[in-house]
Amino acid sequence: MIDKATVQKIKDTADIVEVVGDYVHLIRRGGNYMGLCPFHNERTPSFSVNRRKNFCYCFSCKKGGSPVNFIMEKEGLSYHEALLHLARRYGIKVEERELTDEERRRQSERESMLVANEWAMRLMEHDLTETDEGRDVGLSYLQGRGVTDEAIAAFHLGYALDRGSHLTGSALKAGYPLDVFKQLGLVGTSQQGRDYDRFRGRVIFPILNTSGKVIAFGGRDLKGGLAKYINSPESELYKKSNELYGIYQARSAIVREDKCFLVEGYMDVIGMWQSGMKNVVASSGTALTDGQIALIHRFTDNITLIYDGDAAGVKASLRGIDMLLSHKMNVKTLRLPPEDDPDSFARKNTPEEFRAYVAEHETDIIRYKAQVMLAEMKNDPQQRIAAINSVVESIAHIPDVVSRDVYIRECASLLGISEEAIAKAVAKAVAEVVEKRRRERMRREFPEAMQPTPVSAPGTDVAGVSGQPASAPALPHEVRQQPLAVGLRTQVFPLARAEQALMRYCVRYGYMPFCTQVDENGSEREIDVLEFVREELDVDGVEYTVPLYAKMSELLERMRGDFADAFARERAAADEEAKRMRAEGIREIAARDLSVDEIRREEERLAAVIAGRREGRLSDFRKDWPGRELLSHENDEVRREAAELLRERHHLSHIYSREAPAEREEDRLEILVPRSVIELKGELLDIRLKELMKELSEAVDKGDAEEEHRIDVEIRDVMTMRKEIARDMGERTLSTP
Ligand code: CTP
Ligand code: MN
Repeated sequence: MIDKATVQKIKDTADIVEVVGDYVHLIRRGGNYMGLCPFHNERTPSFSVNRRKNFCYCFSCKKGGSPVNFIMEKEGLSYHEALLHLARRYGIKVEERELTDEERRRQSERESMLVANEWAMRLMEHDLTETDEGRDVGLSYLQGRGVTDEAIAAFHLGYALDRGSHLTGSALKAGYPLDVFKQLGLVGTSQQGRDYDRFRGRVIFPILNTSGKVIAFGGRDLKGGLAKYINSPESELYKKSNELYGIYQARSAIVREDKCFLVEGYMDVIGMWQSGMKNVVASSGTALTDGQIALIHRFTDNITLIYDGDAAGVKASLRGIDMLLSHKMNVKTLRLPPEDDPDSFARKNTPEEFRAYVAEHETDIIRYKAQVMLAEMKNDPQQRIAAINSVVESIAHIPDVVSRDVYIRECASLLGISEEAIAKAVAKAVAEVVEKRRRERMRREFPEAMQPTPVSAPGTDVAGVSGQPASAPALPHEVRQQPLAVGLRTQVFPLARAEQALMRYCVRYGYMPFCTQVDENGSEREIDVLEFVREELDVDGVEYTVPLYAKMSELLERMRGDFADAFARERAAADEEAKRMRAEGIREIAARDLSVDEIRREEERLAAVIAGRREGRLSDFRKDWPGRELLSHENDEVRREAAELLRERHHLSHIYSREAPAEREEDRLEILVPRSVIELKGELLDIRLKELMKELSEAVDKGDAEEEHRIDVEIRDVMTMRKEIARDMGERTLSTP
């Protein structure tokens, strides 16, 4: 039980923006915050957080409430458990009884690891200030480096006594099994079989995850020993590449400032934090990873890299920027004076001076890269080309077309090259990047969809067409005799409806010219509806799941050659007809008694009429051809489906003929077709999302926070992809006729 006063304290302390901020990337809107609702799938934010009322609410699914309600809902906890969760989150002490042996045994491995780490952290925190050695060695070192008591408390800094088996012995005395501590890398075993403390005589930097749990430790040597730092090994708890030092302490400041500083070391984080720049995290001496970027991206789009001012720091700051750019982060870099790192700089300057320095020296990363490259390349043409290519590559990783243009212009003038040349190189690189990026993601998210649709076995053509995936239950005999209406199909193929909508456009308008596209060489090309759809599906490795549609799509592709021949014949006939009409018309005009001027006007009118007629005839032919062919196809299923897809059109064109021409479907294809593609991909992603949601709730049930976090990151990825579908399509398509 929790006493009343503590409950009140928890409620008073829990800040809705911070609590929600653990799960949702919030964007400030006026006095409130908005974000994508964590309770349902959505594309546009409807989740609102009201800081003043300490309350959140989803306008769409209506979930929300106080921080306690939010945690109950999000973590699937009881009221009591949610309070405990928040108490832990805010470091509020709650009197809880000791665990029984049985309970301790029952705790999952992960949980006991967390408990052991937490216990070890408390021990070392205690030893830093409450033992002579801790004070004389650890605390005085920290104080010597200007670390304040406030920072020591906030970062739970500690000291590992230099005593061989102090922690080991204390753990045993407290009744903890040692193997957990061994897994965690806190206890080691000597060749003689003796257990000893791995961290000895070191200042301890606990590494916390976003929910404030201790997942690892870094220990700094104070004696000039061999290893400057000892860190916890990777474990069930600690996947180094997915964590950032300081994220727990920085999180709410990152959201508030809508910006994150990235530095290299533990001390840099603490130094900046003390300087009032609390939105700071460290990658702990390793190159930034995708997982770490995703973690930052949960809280902001804006990141500023701060590296040491020396040459190595400059090099390091250029590493990994393409990765950041492709995560749609706005990346800036801040170069410190050559003799400084963030920690020393924070100590030498007042917070105001530091802020002023940031404001003045923060440079956009691409501009920075171009400048650095420019300084480096001197006059060696080889180096020059390599430098330009490298900048071009970075620009290509920026997802936003408009910002890319700005950089192209700027870098052209910086590097002394024509804008056209850079633009062309960038277009080419973009096509490559978009292609690569999306293929990778699709492969990761939809391994099944990357498999080709199974081809029906020879001799089972019709059955193959209406067949189902092997895993689906067979349909009753009577049902299979009926035409496979989409309503029925959707029971077997969840994407049938979306695929049908797309196939409908292909059958009706497949060979109509559609848009201009950029290909891999950066050059432009006219494509028709069918090609557009095909390429849009290919680029994401999407295949029709309904075998009938896969077959029809393939038929339409294969018929293109026949169509080209037929169209050539039709055009010849149309030209013939035009010639005849023209001759007749001219004869007719000549027969009338007209002035020269009138004759000229009449002839012009005649030419326009004939051209319009010819155009209309060819366009009708183009439009009707695929449908007509499919309607007379040898396969029953194909014929029936084609009729189904074309049927509505006669019906509709009847209606449309009485309406404004702009209402006609075929005049709105440039909107309708891409929308239909987006819907299909969106549904595919929705299916993946649903799976992930299910996995997530299983992980929540199991209390597997690590897994939960992993799935959460993946969910965010999929949601990002959903947003990106439309944008990527826009990127490949230059214009519509
Ligand atoms: N690091 C590490 N192991 C090492 C050296 C460095 O894990 N042997 C990581 C630590 O996370 C460290 C960061 O890389 O914080 C940056 O390294 P460095 O600049 O050498 O250390 P600082 O933390 O800046 O230490 P100090 O300022 O005390 O020299
Ligand atoms: Mn340092």
